[in-house]
Amino acid sequence: MAKLIDGKLYAEALRKRIAIAVASLKKDHNLIPGLAVVLVGEDPASKVYVANKAKQTVEVGMNSWEHKMPADTSEADLLAMVQKLNDDPSVHGILVQMPVPKHIDSAKVLNTIDPAKDVDGFHVVNVGKLSTGQDALVACTPTGCVMLAKDTLGDLSGLNAVVIGRSNIVGKPVAQLLLAENCTVTIAHSRSKDLASIVRGADLVIAAVGRPEMVKGDWIKPGACVIDVGINRIERDGKNKLVGDCDFASCEAVAGSITPVPGGVGPMTIACLLHNTVKAAAAIHKVKTPEM
Ligand code: GUN
Repeated sequence: MAKLIDGKLYAEALRKRIAIAVASLKKDHNLIPGLAVVLVGEDPASKVYVANKAKQTVEVGMNSWEHKMPADTSEADLLAMVQKLNDDPSVHGILVQMPVPKHIDSAKVLNTIDPAKDVDGFHVVNVGKLSTGQDALVACTPTGCVMLAKDTLGDLSGLNAVVIGRSNIVGKPVAQLLLAENCTVTIAHSRSKDLASIVRGADLVIAAVGRPEMVKGDWIKPGACVIDVGINRIERDGKNKLVGDCDFASCEAVAGSITPVPGGVGPMTIACLLHNTVKAAAAIHKVKTPEM
């Protein structure tokens, strides 16, 4: 049976280190990092994420602001809100919760955020810096995946990594991070031909395709490390259940290590967001980023 990778435990430890870093910025530089989150509309899953972000931001000692805007907010009004936060010196991190309503151009919104405050790492400047190996604010879920993989496997150099999924939020940035760790990276997706045989070559599998339980145990190379990014709500036996993109029972029987859903990658995302906010605050104030 595979070793379970405990993302909840790892994220808790990371948040403790972040809290120490926040305290040292306050003591040494009178600097309190601040994160502003903007939520447009009433998506229930987004409301839960945003509430969790606010709670954990305050718990590590940072300032937190939530800006809730109605679903019929115009693009111009949202851009004006982002500009206001760009101009506010007490705000070091800005996150506009995705998805935004369909009448709003999400790329335009994300690219209006000051790249120095782009703690999601979604601005083209940060995406470009990541892909050219420059210091950048990097997307949170991909960062969390690589932290867990390194904690489990140690040096990732030379490993065959297969990323399933090509989204801007996870697939593409996690592939860039793994490349920077000297992995041989394959980006596969739902239209890849013979996905099973591609995945069978992987020492490290990152499943981020958004399809419940798509990856089966007989796709997994014995002993491989499986990082499951999927969070899918399904109904089974009349009950609502959260499942990943991997069929956990069959994958667990073959893999060397695997993240559960929930309790794997999920808790890492907010911890990495807080990490980015500390990094952004230190960079904006031109002080050294504390160890975390
Ligand atoms: N929606 C789901 N995940 C994310 C995320 O990491 N950042 C933002 N802004 N929206 C999301």
